Amino acid sequence: MDLPKLKVETTRLVCELEQLATFSECSEPSPAVTRVVFTETDVKAREYLRGLYETAGLAVRTDAVGNTFARWEGSEPDLPAVGTGSHTDAIPHSGMYDGTVGVLGGLEAIRALQQSGFRPRRSIDVVMFTSEEPTRFGVGCTGSRLMSGALSVAQLASLRDESGSTYDQARTQAGFTGELSTALLAPNAYSAFVELHIEQGPLLEQAAESIGVVTAIAAPSTVHFEVTGEGGHAGAVLMPMRRDALAAAAGMVLAIERLALDSRSPDLVATVGELHVHPGAVNSIPSRVRFTLDLRDIDGDNRDEVLESVVAACTQIASQRRVEISHQVLNADPPAVCDERIVEAAVRAAERLQLAHRRMISRAYHDSLLMARIAPTGMIFIPCRGGVSHRPDEYASPEHMEAGVATLALTLAQLAS
Ligand code: GLV
Ligand code: MN
Ligand code: MN
Ligand code: MN
Repeated sequence: MDLPKLKVETTRLVCELEQLATFSECSEPSPAVTRVVFTETDVKAREYLRGLYETAGLAVRTDAVGNTFARWEGSEPDLPAVGTGSHTDAIPHSGMYDGTVGVLGGLEAIRALQQSGFRPRRSIDVVMFTSEEPTRFGVGCTGSRLMSGALSVAQLASLRDESGSTYDQARTQAGFTGELSTALLAPNAYSAFVELHIEQGPLLEQAAESIGVVTAIAAPSTVHFEVTGEGGHAGAVLMPMRRDALAAAAGMVLAIERLALDSRSPDLVATVGELHVHPGAVNSIPSRVRFTLDLRDIDGDNRDEVLESVVAACTQIASQRRVEISHQVLNADPPAVCDERIVEAAVRAAERLQLAHRRMISRAYHDSLLMARIAPTGMIFIPCRGGVSHRPDEYASPEHMEAGVATLALTLAQLAS
């Protein structure tokens, strides 16, 4: 097919990203962003986006958990649509490009196609997924998990945040009501889904390439551990008598790091990112510690084997130190393989734009991991400075965003024709 000639309005996109970044509950100044699902900030950011969608003439639909679909209707609206999009929630003290480039960039891709005179046969949706980040409820991608059936209504509704609110209460308070089951998408809702995202790693920048075409997404898992020992007075209880939960947990964290370093797969990564110590007083022996584990690999079988070894090692340390341990696997997803037809469409788009590109895997997870269960799925990456992400100094240049939006637009044009 003849691909349309595009003019991406990069200045507008940058302004909108900066405006979106002002919706933040972060204690640090801009560009640091914190935007947690179902908070007032999240709701305000969604209102801002709705205004942009409506100005672009898109029809907006929001489901029972706030997943938002902004549709550019095609000439054959009954055909399965083409989807693009990402998330706008942001982990504490993070940056302004993670996820947002895929939502506002998806909108910009549609506006560039509209302006070029292109008319899609299939409708094109910009999807804003609710809560890609696991910050509030422990599990990431709750919106796309529900849509794809990866998480049941009962499992989702019963997730709790630190304050004890259930997911169901939190979404209702934020204004999202209706039966959760209605958010499940029909298996043929989308003939293709493509997500634009910053790489969150250094490879594209190091190779001076502007586009990564993702071929597979690594398998993530999240596990919560709880270690229970015995508390007591920090002055009065002598060392041989102690069953210190934090000293035991410290041994477990180091054992996890060792197992990850020794893994047969170089792609396996393990992170203990949260540690909650009870009672948390300078002169009190820790009686209880909760910690999280984030464990991932492109090789799902190896991820599962290492997870078993981690549980065995932690159990052994607990027994040596006479403390109790329990764990709960919140998610252990298989990896996703991207659809070859979408990969080829994205490569063709990058070639047509004469952009240096490569095929690559995504080590971070994205809503595309779940969308791949119900639709042929692909992803387009652009570089971010120094490979930095989940930090306030995350940065993607206007030139790279323009390249990403243009590649996305030409990919959507092929898939929607
Ligand atoms: C997504 O934010 C991830 O942690 O990969
Ligand atoms: Mn993120
Ligand atoms: Mn993201
Ligand atoms: Mn994420």
